[in-house]
Amino acid sequence: MSEKATLEYNGNKYEFPVIKGTEEELAIDIKTLRAASGIITIDPGYKNTGSCKSAITFLDGEKGILRYRGYSIEELAEKADFLEVAYLLIFGELPNAEQLEQFHSDIKSESQVDEEMKKILDGFPKSAHPMGVLSSLTSALIAFNPSSVNVTSEKEMYWAIVRIMAKFPVLVAWTLRKKKGLPLDYGDDTLGYVENIHKMMFKKPNQEYKKNKVIIDALDKLLILHADHEQNCSTSTVRIVGSSHAGLFASLSAGISALWGPLHGGANQAVLEMLEAIEADGGDTKKYMGKAKDKEDPFRLMGFGHRVYKNFDPRAKIIKKSADEVLGDLGIEDPILAIAQGLEKEALEDKYFVDRKLYPNVDFYSGIIYRALGIPTEMFTVMFALGRLPGWIAQWREMRLNGEPIGRPRQVYTGENLRSFVPVEKR
Ligand code: CMC
Repeated sequence: MSEKATLEYNGNKYEFPVIKGTEEELAIDIKTLRAASGIITIDPGYKNTGSCKSAITFLDGEKGILRYRGYSIEELAEKADFLEVAYLLIFGELPNAEQLEQFHSDIKSESQVDEEMKKILDGFPKSAHPMGVLSSLTSALIAFNPSSVNVTSEKEMYWAIVRIMAKFPVLVAWTLRKKKGLPLDYGDDTLGYVENIHKMMFKKPNQEYKKNKVIIDALDKLLILHADHEQNCSTSTVRIVGSSHAGLFASLSAGISALWGPLHGGANQAVLEMLEAIEADGGDTKKYMGKAKDKEDPFRLMGFGHRVYKNFDPRAKIIKKSADEVLGDLGIEDPILAIAQGLEKEALEDKYFVDRKLYPNVDFYSGIIYRALGIPTEMFTVMFALGRLPGWIAQWREMRLNGEPIGRPRQVYTGENLRSFVPVEKR
């Protein structure tokens, strides 16, 4: 027999079904609450509110578990490549060799971006933040691919996905090249997906591109670790924008804007800037720990804490190890790494952080690797967006295929009651 939850209000009792996920997660289904009782629930920041049922990513913040489609993040980061993970997230199963080859070759066939897009890029000053540029370019892509996707056609859905998987890396690379004053590039069909992205980003016009396995492997891993994270701020944005039946590219562009903020994806840039500031200030980590704990001080220890993880972010564990390896393999000694390690050690032993269950998150060490790979700080969140792309696509696709209704929260109004208009001369 299915379980029920009862709400009692004003002498009336209302019963609601309790639904259970495949990992035994429980939720009270309050869909009928307002119709039955006239009241709503309120939950700013949605700390207790599930917006959907989803079969893509499982996350247990207490135990520090993250799985894509049932596969642990640890195993995927070690054994898979980014394109396989993208396919897995979007279509639900790991591709066989033939499916992967087909997906990649379809992506290659769509990897041109209309030359007219260069004019839009040209309109931005070099100083523009790459996230603003990327979001605008993604939105601009709609003008060059105007037909909206008929979601009942598997074929149309597939090609919309292929198109954005193909063109997005070009936009990412162009965003960086514009910043660096390098000529724009379309990449190379003979390379793997991630290697091609790296080449598009960094190839100098007067030099031959040389593959560096350490760099490509590190990038692959970082992109996999960022590929999905269930209903976070940007993903919820993508789903809610898409729920109005806005197209895929428009929904993604909104997701990029949501990711930009320093409490979300923008934290990776903020972490590095924080570590640099601590270094420039003499490397006194204790001083900054004090600032983070001082309620009068707006400073937060960036890269620490998470809405869902109340234990180690499993992605942070993998990235920390990877940061050590990558810097070692590339022969880089970065004083910033020592500052990060010092801060982490202090925070993990500090009552303030322990009591609030604040652990390093994915962004704490990722910037150190990006820096070692030669990626400018302002591009860090763009790299996060590149990794998150398949997750956003998968979530948008799931939302449309499930026929979810338009996202439209309610509110509790706390403004003025009805009052009469006063003409301007009498105010
Ligand atoms: N430094 C100092 N104190 C903190 C921090 C921090 N980084 N994070 C949370 N706290 C404190 C906060 O002040 C509050 O204390 P109190 O209970 O005394 O008022 C308590 O911990 C709970 O914090 P909250 O802001 O209510 O928690 P939240 O779930 O709303 O916010 C968060 C989660 C990630 C926005 C927050 O921890 C934060 O601002 N962290 C720094 C930014 C960051 O690293 N963001 C990246 C998140 S991971 C990447 C991604 O997926 O987006």
